[in-house]
Order: sequence, then C-alpha cells, then structure tokens
Amino acid sequence: MMTKITVAKGDGIGPEIMEAVIRVFKAANLPLEYQFVDMGKWVFDKGFSNGMTPEAKATIESLGILFKGPMETPKGKGVKSVNVTARKTWNTYANDRHFQTLSGVQTVFSKAGINVNITIVRENIEDTYGGVEHMITEDVAIARRYITRQGSEQVIRYAFEMAKKKGAKRVTCGHKANIMKLTDGMFLEVFKQVAAEYPELQSDDIIVDDLCMKLVSRPDLFDVIVLTNLQGDIVSDLCAGLVGGLGFAPSSNIGDKISIFEAVHGTAPDIAGKNIANPTSLLLSGLSMLRHLGMMEKAIEIENALLYTLESGVHTGDFGDKSIPSVNTTDFANAIISNLGKQPKNNARPTIADFEFHPQDLHQKENVMLAKTSSSKHSIVGVDFFIESTEQPAVIAHIAKKHESDILKLVTITNRGTQVWPTGSVFTNLVNQYGCRFETIDNAPLAQEDIAQLYLAMSKDFTISSLEVLNMWGDKKAYSLAQGQ
Ligand code: NAI
Repeated sequence: MMTKITVAKGDGIGPEIMEAVIRVFKAANLPLEYQFVDMGKWVFDKGFSNGMTPEAKATIESLGILFKGPMETPKGKGVKSVNVTARKTWNTYANDRHFQTLSGVQTVFSKAGINVNITIVRENIEDTYGGVEHMITEDVAIARRYITRQGSEQVIRYAFEMAKKKGAKRVTCGHKANIMKLTDGMFLEVFKQVAAEYPELQSDDIIVDDLCMKLVSRPDLFDVIVLTNLQGDIVSDLCAGLVGGLGFAPSSNIGDKISIFEAVHGTAPDIAGKNIANPTSLLLSGLSMLRHLGMMEKAIEIENALLYTLESGVHTGDFGDKSIPSVNTTDFANAIISNLGKQPKNNARPTIADFEFHPQDLHQKENVMLAKTSSSKHSIVGVDFFIESTEQPAVIAHIAKKHESDILKLVTITNRGTQVWPTGSVFTNLVNQYGCRFETIDNAPLAQEDIAQLYLAMSKDFTISSLEVLNMWGDKKAYSLAQGQ
C-alpha cells in the first residue's frame, strides 16, 4: 500500500536537496506517494502572511506528514517564520534530533576515537517561543515563559517512549530548576513522575550549564536528553557541532496527529542554484520520517548506503577529506543510490523491525483541551503591581503603603526581580520599573473585586504597567519570592 506524504521543497537550496533525496527514495522503491505543496518565500511574497497556501494547509492536515526543505522568512515585513508557525499550529510538541558520529565526517571526537550517539528531545511549543512579549516601559521589555504540566508531560513521555523503542538505556532531563523553581521546577517534577513509569530505563537530571560543559568534554556519557524549548534549541545546536555541524543533523517535529520532518540548516542563499549543497541533513530527516511511518527496513538500507558512501570518502564541498575532490549534489545522491544494499564497516545500523506504526485518525472537529478545569483548592492571596517610576524605593513604599488595608499589606518592592524595600542595598542599580507586592495577612483569601479596588486606588498614584495575581493551591504558594525577600 502506498503512503501519501506532503512535500514542500522550500527556498534557496531546498529544491536541489529535496530533488536529490527523493531520487534516493525512488531508487530504494519506497511505497510513498508525494504531494507537493507551496510554502515559504514565494507564498509570503504572494501575500499569504503565514507562508503557506490554504491548499498546502489542507493537504498537510489531511495527510498528517510534512517533509520540508528549509524556508526563508522575509525580513522586515513583520511576518513570523513559517517553520515556527507550522510546528506550533499543528502541535508538534517534540523536536527529536539524533546526533551520531558519521564515518568520513571528521570531528575532534572522531579523531580521538570518541563515539557520539546522542538524541536531544526538545519541547517545541512552549517556553519563551510563544513570543508573548511586551514593552512595559519605554526601557523595559518582558517575555512570558509558558511551561505547562500537560505540555511538559507530552514531550517527556515522548522521550521515554522513543528511548524504549530505539533501545536507549538512559533518559536525562536538562533544566535550570535551581533558578526557575516554578517553570523549570514543574518540568523536572513532571520528568520524575513520568520516569517512575519506565523503571526499565535509567533516568537522571542535570543543570543545563553543567550539561553543556560535560557535552563538550565527554559527549559519550549521554544517551537521550530532554529539555525545555530554548535550552533545547541551544543544546541541540551544540550537539550538531559535536558531529560535524548542522549539515549532519536530522530533525523530526512529532505531534499526536501531524509530524514534520525537516533539514535543520537554512536556505544557504550563498550557494543556492549551484547544485553543490549537501543533502545529508535532509536525507537523515527523511530517514526519521520513514521510521516514523514504520518503514524501518528501508530506512536502515538507505542509512547504511549513506554511511558506506561517507566512509568511502565521497563528499560535497562543505566537508570531508580535502585531498579527495568533492562531488556535486546530484553525484552525491547518485553515489548513495549505487551503494544501496551495501554495509558500512563502522556503525552499520542494525536491522531492527519491531516498531509498530498506527496510522493517525485525522478527523478532528474541535481543538483538544489538554487541561482539567481549575482546582477548587485555589485561592488569591495577593497581587504584584508593576509600575513605572524613577523615584527611589523608599518614596514608592511611602506612597504605596497608603493603599494598605486591614487585610492587604505591602510586603516587598522589587526592581528587576531584586528586593529593594523593606531591605536591600544601595548598590542595586534601578530601572524605571518596580514590582509592588501586596499580600493578605495569614493568606486570607481575596476576591477578584478586592484586586480591582486596589488597582483603582494604586492607579491614582502610579502608572501601572501590568499586574500579576498571587495564587495559592492548597497550602502552596504559586509564585516566586523576590531575590533577597
Ligand atoms: P544557513 O544554514 O542557510 O547557512 C549558513 C552557512 O551554512 C552558509 O554558509 C551555507 O552555505 C552553509 N550551508 C547550510 N546548509 C548547507 C548545506 N546543506 N550544504 C552546504 N552548505 C550549507 O543559515 P543562514 O544563512 O543563517 O540563513 C539563511 C536563510 O535560511 C534565512 O532566511 C533563514 O531564515 C532561513 N532558515 C531556515 C530554516 C528552516 O527552514 N528550518 C532554519 C534556519 C534558517
């Protein structure tokens, strides 16, 4: 039976490398039917602000698989990257990138005989990538960082399931929960809960800066690593560097219904149209797609042909042994095709075929709500007002205290998250944006109207940029303390 997939060739070198990869797929007799759609620069230029035609969106939503080349986001037109839009719109919550030592691709580690075989699973939707940013004074910009229990669980569960399927031994959580106790703290808490369901896999966690240091000194110590979005973005490019650069790194964006497979490098405008680009990253992403579709044996056959080709010294101009002349994109693909069926000497892929693929039911009428209704144990116990001022902390405190009531007291004033009142240091530099925290005595619960009244009163004395309600769940404070509080 033929499986239909959506293909978007992309911009710059995209069409050249996609053509090369599809030629390899066709030579390997894959049971695939390709439906080509328009996405990227040409579509932006036509006036579609999300970078994809309605037909492209409809095709992807009906087939569930998108295989894409790199795409250009026009600069200065206020449009958002089609790559990010696609990942977020279709909830491809797990970005899975496998980094392995490849014969013929020399790195400091390959020369030292250290084998790299690391899979980074990066959360793909949340964190600061929501792009929810505000200027709250002319000089102060803030970003919201979303970490949710459900979003974390989706990606962490994916990491454990994937690790189990591919026979990995260990899953590590990279995080910064020592500083961001509520956001990264929640990610780590969910990791530990999910890990308990997989006793057959080792699990541990590591602070992300320590992780980076260990990755560049002992990459062979790691197996599968799961991280939040921004940290995962940085750590995955670091890992690409360990195996020879972005040209050798595949990328899968996995969702429950729709998944996207893409090269991680960009459109390489400097070499576009010259037929010299390296198609390896896109080919490796295509192999991840084949595995996802259950075409395990074909994926292994093509991967071994690629490894054999690299091992025999065939290379495009961007890598490899400079004493051997480079080949162009077409001839690189031809070499892989002629090596189908051959086994590389090093790191040959084992023939495993115990993977079960369940075609997704793509009929869906409504958005899925992941969360339950809010907890009954929730109460409001205060509010943070963020105000604009260039006054000294003591002056702010003097005015703000006028708005205290029998139940609500001013407890701290902060500047960039550091307490500057009632105690603090004159050596803390200030910007024109303060946080004034009011809390109730003994955590007495407040009504939303109490906050509204305090807002009205405070607004007579201050320019309020924003406010944040202080919640408690049961007896647990659901907000961070100020630095120094
Ligand atoms: P880039 O990855 O396109 O190029 C960086 C350097 O790597 C260039 O010297 C290029 O020639 C080289 N290079 C990249 N891929 C190569 C390949 N397959 N073979 C040989 N050499 C290769 O990054 P850059 O220049 O920052 O971005 C160019 C455009 O690509 C921008 O419009 C950007 O928005 C877009 N982009 C798209 C991505 C996607 O579609 N997922 C990801 C990153 C950038």
